[in-house]
Amino acid sequence: MRHFLRDDDLSPEEQAEVLDLAAALKAAPFDSTPLAGPRSVAMIFDKPTLRTQTSFAAGIAELGGNPMLVEGRLAGIGVRESVEDVARVLGRQVAVVVWRTFFQSDLDTMAQWAGVPVVNALTDDFHPCQLIADLLTIREHAGEPAGKRVAFVGDGACNMASSWLLAGATAGMHVTVSAPDGYQPTDELLARADEIGGSTGGSGRVVVDPVEAVSGADVVVTDTWVSMGKELEERARAKALGPWSLTPELLAHAAEDALVLHCLPAHRGQEISDEVLEGPQSVVWDEAENRRHAQKAVLAWLLERAAS
Ligand code: NVA
Repeated sequence: MRHFLRDDDLSPEEQAEVLDLAAALKAAPFDSTPLAGPRSVAMIFDKPTLRTQTSFAAGIAELGGNPMLVEGRLAGIGVRESVEDVARVLGRQVAVVVWRTFFQSDLDTMAQWAGVPVVNALTDDFHPCQLIADLLTIREHAGEPAGKRVAFVGDGACNMASSWLLAGATAGMHVTVSAPDGYQPTDELLARADEIGGSTGGSGRVVVDPVEAVSGADVVVTDTWVSMGKELEERARAKALGPWSLTPELLAHAAEDALVLHCLPAHRGQEISDEVLEGPQSVVWDEAENRRHAQKAVLAWLLERAAS
């Protein structure tokens, strides 16, 4: 049984396979129906969502399946009943469980007990579905990701930065995270990125200076300074991360045709300026659309692997 809980659950070959599948499903959205029946996919959200819920729901329907929204607050997973018990109940009803929650360890428990594939729809630690969409977007606008340089500026300890390190290295990219002290990725993650890079040619590193990170980059990425669950730290984060804002001046250091990615929601004037988000280098709307194609590919790939 395969799951997609963190970016490095896919080997480099498997990631490429999923990206190829995503491109094929984008070209022919209704040609593949692995959920025909329809079989159901549970989508559970313990944190806010727009893109993830709608892209999964639309994608599951396109795959011939039934998107089943499970209201996180009503289910009370881990509160009303244990993750283990919920997992075993859900596994008797649905073909796949998609879960957005706080702790990666809860997702691991779900995967251990569900008996069906489990997909990470964002945790505090990782956002791997977003990275498949991001890599698909890079492929479409700039060709193969391998060898390209990515600069992630801002909250370098957030789920998106962590996913970039792992998924980027898996794709053979050089990922530089730029963040101040206290907002940097763990040594463990950086080591894991380099370990993956040993076979793909990719790498992961952290630098403080955003100009150094962005200089010559092919892709520049940022994310909110206040990830879901960190709302109480909003003022401290705005103060600490202010100099890492993705402004036209910072972007000017990147390659002339560098792409700008942001998983959204965006906070104009904070982590990214309006000019950059709406500017010619921004591909954020394609990136948002690609969530659907990417996640369909993840689901189709897992269903095929679950059956084998
Ligand atoms: N780092 C952000 C990503 C939102 C899609 C968060 O966790 O809120």
